[in-house]
Amino acid sequence: MPILDTLVTEFRRIYGIAPEKIARAPGRVNLIGEHTDYNDGFVMPIAIDRDVVMAARARTDNKIRVTALDIPGTETDVFDLDDIPHHPDYRWANYIRGVAFYLQAQHVPLTGIDAAFTSDVPSGAGLSSSAALEVCAATMLQAYTTRPVSPVVVAQVCQRAENNFVGVKSGIMDQYASALGAAGAAIKIDCRSLTYTIVKLPRGVSVVVADTRKKRHLAGSDYNTRRMECENAAVLLSQLLGKNIAALRDVSYKEFKSAAKYLPDNLMRRTRHVITENERVEKAERAARRNDAVEFGKLMTQSQTSLRDDYQASSPELDIMVEIAQKQPGCLGSRLTGAGWGGATVNLVRDENMELFIKTVAHEYATRTGITPWVSAVVPSQGAGMIGLETGEVKK
Ligand code: GLA
Repeated sequence: MPILDTLVTEFRRIYGIAPEKIARAPGRVNLIGEHTDYNDGFVMPIAIDRDVVMAARARTDNKIRVTALDIPGTETDVFDLDDIPHHPDYRWANYIRGVAFYLQAQHVPLTGIDAAFTSDVPSGAGLSSSAALEVCAATMLQAYTTRPVSPVVVAQVCQRAENNFVGVKSGIMDQYASALGAAGAAIKIDCRSLTYTIVKLPRGVSVVVADTRKKRHLAGSDYNTRRMECENAAVLLSQLLGKNIAALRDVSYKEFKSAAKYLPDNLMRRTRHVITENERVEKAERAARRNDAVEFGKLMTQSQTSLRDDYQASSPELDIMVEIAQKQPGCLGSRLTGAGWGGATVNLVRDENMELFIKTVAHEYATRTGITPWVSAVVPSQGAGMIGLETGEVKK
């Protein structure tokens, strides 16, 4: 891992001594199940072979001192574990402060550390670089405690940090995938019970990510609006169907059909997306289990149509990226991944077509938009953990 060399060298430069411990946490790509996590539904992400890595040494006091190596000129934050306010300026610092705050709220006793981190997860691409930072910080802080919590609780703690310290009302998927991802497979998460099953991808296909390099302004507010629409739809459907609906997960397609005409158009569309998307995750799991890559890809493409038309979460650049991808030989499915309104697409591509796919999609997208995209294959990887300092190997 080349970023590990940078990390260790920079840590030595800053602190004048070698680090004691190194933690890593991966970014994620969601294969299918978009905007379903906060509706208590199903998602199927992979953790990817790109990480946030953090090096640390224990301190003798209660302070956390952490340097962000990727910020030009680097930035350092120092805070006291006894009193963790919101950082007024550094957004990245709030991910770490929030994690420390909510770990302590879970009665995890923490001690001070000196730390530094770097990352090769592209940021702003919808690959959850911020969730990876949260989970990496939690993994490191837990390496210094006598009472660690489980990876699922880590995911919940990190989600709380994101929701309340950073202010993005995200669901649990990103942090969960980063904490619990499986090498060589996707995980299908039930976002209500917070349990998961491992789903091996069909043989002979690769996952390719294509970042449009365009993030829509106000994407955060679109996201929070969609969440609210889903909550409103659940309340209305409770009244219309005369049953308790805690989340859209509780509405069957048949029930939706019977009530659809009484819903305002936007809520009807959001609900239709969530219900059909949950069904697509179930179908995709079955397709993967019978090694049916073609069906898996079709479901991904149907997901894109639903996200574009019903959830209205696509963007002109995402639509162009998907359109170009779908025309390429060996592309079985293509869709936006993550929140949408910009960021990346995820593509299922036959192994033998993968190299040409990457080149052609990058070239055609640049020609049509004037923007150079980032297109790359990603490998399903293991969730967060500690790295052996001597070997550079991931400790299970
Ligand atoms: C973002 C959020 C996730 C999830 C996706 C949409 O990535 O952080 O919790 O809601 O959008 O599926």
